[in-house]
Amino acid sequence: MSFDLNSLLRPHIAKLQPYTSARDEYTGKEGVFLDANENPFGSITEQDFNRYPDPYQSVLKEEIAKIKGVRPSQIFLGNGSDEAIDLLYRAFCNPGKDNVILLPPTYGMYEVSANINDVEIRKVALTPDFQLQPDQILAAADANSKILFICSPNNPSANKAKREDILFLLENFKGLVVVDEAYIDFSDEPSFTNELDRFPNLLVMQTFSKAWGLASLRLGMAFASEELIRILNKIKPPYNISGLTQETVLAAIKDKAKVDRMIQDILAEREFLKGELEKLPFVQKIHPSHANFLLVQIPNANQVYNDLIEEKIIVRNRAKVLLCADCLRITVGTREENEALLKALRKVCS
Ligand SMILES: Cc1ncc(COP(=O)(O)O)c(C=O)c1O
Repeated sequence: MSFDLNSLLRPHIAKLQPYTSARDEYTGKEGVFLDANENPFGSITEQDFNRYPDPYQSVLKEEIAKIKGVRPSQIFLGNGSDEAIDLLYRAFCNPGKDNVILLPPTYGMYEVSANINDVEIRKVALTPDFQLQPDQILAAADANSKILFICSPNNPSANKAKREDILFLLENFKGLVVVDEAYIDFSDEPSFTNELDRFPNLLVMQTFSKAWGLASLRLGMAFASEELIRILNKIKPPYNISGLTQETVLAAIKDKAKVDRMIQDILAEREFLKGELEKLPFVQKIHPSHANFLLVQIPNANQVYNDLIEEKIIVRNRAKVLLCADCLRITVGTREENEALLKALRKVCS
């Protein structure tokens, strides 16, 4: 497939002169730095934070590249995945003219971010077992369909999309295809980062918020062609990842074995929780999960949700969401938390 990224790009972004700082011109570590109006005496905190951080996070990207099997130049880091979503709209979608294809039920920020950016949304529902409808997706698209968001494993349904469907869309959709893999670490599916060199229209999103347990640090990853990463870097706020986040993740990333252990623990708890929920007579359905949560169908889910809150157990009520009638989305907790949920469910549903 011939693919021309520049023809998708909004013309004013193609012409944009990005912000530059003196440290784009001088990249050395040694020197007297009187260029950025920082406080020369240090910080009010014990640890010093007085210097601006590396705007392109190069040391951290070197390490991420090693564990993800990509080149550092194929990585964009954002203040959560949500930043990459917003930047994609701003780079490619002309407000009031272009459109995005969304596949409900799915992660809510694709829609919110489209609305913030005044971008038309075209929705193509998943099938009742939450699979993609590739032909309908292509039929919904036109020359102004700039982005297609595919979430796999999907939130809130927890299942993965069929690989051949995603490949078909990568081959046939004329705009960018974003594959959001926020939950990939809980799945046996290989990442689509393996396909980056084959598909210049592919952008894969992952995050440190889930398996790595670093949601509070706000670090999302986007993997794509060097050309596409350059565009995101050009329009992002200059210092979008704090120095503290860069340092903390750099130290944490060396302990990949610990993450793998946590993933195994979460998967074991997911099986425990699923097994125990299956024993409850009022549970109608537990959807197959490739994520760290279960989508569970229970009669009167709205009432159950409210009753669980009374018991100080907070789950996500998805009962009003398309194809999710009477469904609650339950994050896999520790054994203690899962036992507490099960006890409360037995109480409120008896
Ligand atoms: C599918 C999906 N993508 C992205 C995110 C957001 O990730 P981040 O914390 O990196 O912004 C979430 C959060 O729940 C999610 O479910």
